[in-house]
Amino acid sequence: MIRRASLLIAATLAATSVQAQGKLKVGLMLPASGTYAQLGAAIENGFRLHVAEQGGKLGGREVEYVKVDDESDPAKATDNVNKLIKRDNVDVLVGTVHSGVAMAMAKAAKESNTLLIVPNAGADAVTGPMCAPNIFRSSFSNWQPGYAMGDVVAKKGHRKVVTITWKYAAGDESVKGFKESFEKGGGQVVKELTLPFPNVEFQALLTEIAATRPDAVYTFFAGAGAVKFVKDYAAAGLKKSIPLYAAGFVTDGTLEAQGADAEGILTTLHYADSLGSPKDNAFRLAYAKTYKLQPDVYAVQGYDAAQMLGVGLAAVKGDVSRKAEFAAAVEKARIDSPRGAFTVSRAHNPVQDIYLRQVTGHENKLVSVAAKALADPARGCRM
Ligand code: PHB
Repeated sequence: MIRRASLLIAATLAATSVQAQGKLKVGLMLPASGTYAQLGAAIENGFRLHVAEQGGKLGGREVEYVKVDDESDPAKATDNVNKLIKRDNVDVLVGTVHSGVAMAMAKAAKESNTLLIVPNAGADAVTGPMCAPNIFRSSFSNWQPGYAMGDVVAKKGHRKVVTITWKYAAGDESVKGFKESFEKGGGQVVKELTLPFPNVEFQALLTEIAATRPDAVYTFFAGAGAVKFVKDYAAAGLKKSIPLYAAGFVTDGTLEAQGADAEGILTTLHYADSLGSPKDNAFRLAYAKTYKLQPDVYAVQGYDAAQMLGVGLAAVKGDVSRKAEFAAAVEKARIDSPRGAFTVSRAHNPVQDIYLRQVTGHENKLVSVAAKALADPARGCRM
């Protein structure tokens, strides 16, 4: 009898504490304009889909959203993230796409001890020197797809490669990862071409590639810029003569716009369109039904950001102040992702399979697993 009464009291207290916490305020900081606008939309769709599947609640708390368009502009990033932290008092930050903006978010999250889940930006520093108990990533590090591709290109027997990308953390680090494994495999990067983000005047650089005549080209672009790059590469006549390899973002969420110019391109990424697992099939069906759109890697990363948040919040019963317990739960979880189940490293980056994919029609079709359970080296992370 006494035991039943105390159970009742405990249950009432738990309910009260969830009530006292009120709604869970999620600050979505994503691009809604510019070259990465569509990527931001897919991330938000994926995130909301998982929350909706949980009845609109995570960790027992009803989720509400506050949104900021970060315009993928690092110069505005600190002001933008502080609006969410200081003005809106969010419980958790979710963002963003652009690595430069994400590093400003990580700095602000660290200083204010606000939970942050990065649903795309690969900036190596976020789970490297900037790593922290309250910072998590549901996507990848820039190093991961690049490193996996360097190995693939070396094994194909290519020896001299030119790289071309935007001059900022994502492009630099993607090329660096590629170079690390490609040169280990006996290849040489003979030229590293860059242009400022989000510039799309590729012509002079394509002319330089044609004159250099490398065995192959490796590239990182994404969003609207990737659409234009793939079209320009084909229009310059290079597609026929110099094979193009890329981090998978170059052909993800972009294939309808790229059409035949993307056909056959080989890329590496932590997702593909034809994985066919029950989890992936269910996700793709639900996403298509809800949004009348096909999902892409960004949708998956948004969905998994919500899954990771859900795992952490369940362990602390919705109390975001219990950061250590939140982190411990995420660190020992297996996230049942549409990409395939993954674990989260000590530095809070996914340990995941990187797939080799080939564009076939409007799909990035699975070719093979390029790197099994690939963990980012997390250089510089002390925690
Ligand atoms: C990044 O800035 O880290 C970034 C942006 C777009 C992508 C991937 C990475 O598709």
